[in-house]
Amino acid sequence: MSVAIETQRVKKVTTHVLGEMKMRGEKIAMLTSYDYSLARIVDKAGIDVILVGDSAANVMAGWKTTLPITLSQMIYHGESVVRAVKRAMVVIDMPFGSYQGNSVEAIVSAIRIMKETTANAIKLEGGAEIVDSVNRILSAGIPVMGHLGLTPQSINKFGTYTVRAKQEEEAKKLIEDAYLLQEAGVFAIVLEKIPAQLAGKVASELRIPIIGIGAGPLVDGQVLVLHDMLGINQDFSPRFLRRYHNLYDEIKFAVGNYVDDVKSGDFPNEKEQY
Ligand code: KIV
Repeated sequence: MSVAIETQRVKKVTTHVLGEMKMRGEKIAMLTSYDYSLARIVDKAGIDVILVGDSAANVMAGWKTTLPITLSQMIYHGESVVRAVKRAMVVIDMPFGSYQGNSVEAIVSAIRIMKETTANAIKLEGGAEIVDSVNRILSAGIPVMGHLGLTPQSINKFGTYTVRAKQEEEAKKLIEDAYLLQEAGVFAIVLEKIPAQLAGKVASELRIPIIGIGAGPLVDGQVLVLHDMLGINQDFSPRFLRRYHNLYDEIKFAVGNYVDDVKSGDFPNEKEQY
């Protein structure tokens, strides 16, 4: 099939499509990607949403937290992914410091992301604290995905990456924040590392899709960090993570073979030269 015909047949995933999926009970599959080559495979494999997560700070750049990644770096990852993707919706994380406490800076950052990457939406972390930024970004016609529960950009406030909203007060605030974001007009919310029953309650009460990570099965979809589920990153093993491959060992094995072949003179052979 020619690329042109294949492209014509691809129905792009939009915010509207995600809403319809929730209504008919079809689960939404979401993964992160940060570069052209892997995003191309992820899209071809049928993923619904690709998140260019600020987890790029961890898996691409080796930082301990997501805080150091900059707006320009997120834009670089975002534009690389957008160039690869035909069907999936591409959502880009707004990095720490680009929207908190200043809704004018938030809209400037969001417009930069949308203009320079041509992605489909942005995601930001938090509830009542950032709703002014959410409102201003939405007023520019930019679709917004929320993120509640464990919000890694606030790690210095919380001090740990343990399960959130186990206590009644925090659970109550999470539900209030979810309603607030829905009323503001976000098209979906990620719930990270919270009790499954609480996530299920939010998903059943809200009309927008709720995507979980470490939030159990009672939500409208799931998201994982690509490098974690492919087993490239072996240092991170939370209970919620299912590894679908062991790429760390596979890549190490392949590279080890290459090193041996170069050292022994086996590579390149007579067919591998001009
Ligand atoms: O940055 C990220 O990868 C995320 C997911 C964990 C949801 O925000």
